[in-house]
Amino acid sequence: MENSVSGFSKFTKAEKIDWLIANHFQNNPKAKADLERYWNTDEVLQKLHDEFTENTISNFYLPFGVAPNFLINDKMYVIPMTIEESSVVAAASNAAKFWMERGGFKAEVLSTTKVGQVHFMFHGAFSELEALFKTIKPQLFEETKAITKNMEARGGGILDIALMDKTEKLSGYYQLHTTFETKDAMGANFINSCLEQIATTFKSCSKDIQVVMSILSNYVPDCLVRAEVSCKVDALATNTYTGQEFADTFLQAVRIAEIEPYRAVTHNKGIMNGVDSVVLATGNDFRAVEAGVHAYAARSGSYSSLTHASIEDGAFKFWIELPLALGTVGGLTGLHPLVKTALELLGKPSAKELMEIVAVAGLAQNFAALKSLTTTGIQQGHMKMHLLNILNQFEANATEKIHLIEHFKTHTVTHSAVVEAIENLRA
Ligand code: MEV
Repeated sequence: MENSVSGFSKFTKAEKIDWLIANHFQNNPKAKADLERYWNTDEVLQKLHDEFTENTISNFYLPFGVAPNFLINDKMYVIPMTIEESSVVAAASNAAKFWMERGGFKAEVLSTTKVGQVHFMFHGAFSELEALFKTIKPQLFEETKAITKNMEARGGGILDIALMDKTEKLSGYYQLHTTFETKDAMGANFINSCLEQIATTFKSCSKDIQVVMSILSNYVPDCLVRAEVSCKVDALATNTYTGQEFADTFLQAVRIAEIEPYRAVTHNKGIMNGVDSVVLATGNDFRAVEAGVHAYAARSGSYSSLTHASIEDGAFKFWIELPLALGTVGGLTGLHPLVKTALELLGKPSAKELMEIVAVAGLAQNFAALKSLTTTGIQQGHMKMHLLNILNQFEANATEKIHLIEHFKTHTVTHSAVVEAIENLRA
């Protein structure tokens, strides 16, 4: 096939780039220069990044921002956030300050159980399978000992292995539904290694067992954290709204997200702005978190809000419950220098403490979004934060930037207004 390549992974980095430039960039030297411009001059650091994944040709930067003033369970945090979207970090910082002055966030880990499954087919009598499972269950634990030894020393390990009959949904389909405690590790490799050993032991006891696959589940409804803020309704008053007006409209916005999936998706997307950026900064797997969180949001059968709110006896309460499988040891956490910095900034938290911090970041983000949406509208703040991006897009120089930032302190930022102001200035 035209433009196909074999042995690409064996090419050196320079050879990979040369092949790409010749075959996909019409030998344009600028494309090559752009890739090389993002190489780190520190060769050791560059090699470390190259080796995180495969076929690496350059680095892809994301901003590493921080949101100060987070009071969580009476402890102050500066939260690291890796995200490209303007106004997310500002919104988190604003919400942090707002709630710091009203008692801060309370967060609590409700459970830490993770799940993995051996999916297999069996077409004999269920009673026969059940008896077989009962007999072999101790051996399933025994033969994973070499893998679980270290985790058990840290207080974790395999909690249980249960035989699940799924034949009503798929003929002959069963699972060994296995639960784990993985302490400060996210545990994906540990869980998958255990499952593969369990599968090997299990299938060796009967030729009628056909193992289809063994893999952890990223759905972790029993690895759950809750974060909350509360205050007197009166303490929510702004220059324009009474506390009651603010709280009532805010509550309606939450109710809409609870019952209307179109709104719930955007509402939860805003929550994930906070969640993902901390998950990413701390070297965790944001795809796993995303998949698990959205499944949780749809657990009733209808996609719904991850946050909830109430007004009772003059008190406003706003909370979130999130399934989060996070680690503060293993994976990238000990490898990526900025991940180490992020974890150090957070005071080297345990995985449970990190779950609390991440849930708070999500709640704070949602509070800030709903506060804007139900009062000024989102664009006023967002476009102000986005102004620099538009100026950069038009390659504004330093003097132009100073002038235009000053101008837009008193004018509404829209894309066309910025373009017009740049044109007027340049004319
Ligand atoms: C934008 O990234 C996030 C928001 O749309 C969230 C929301 O609407 O709640 C502002």
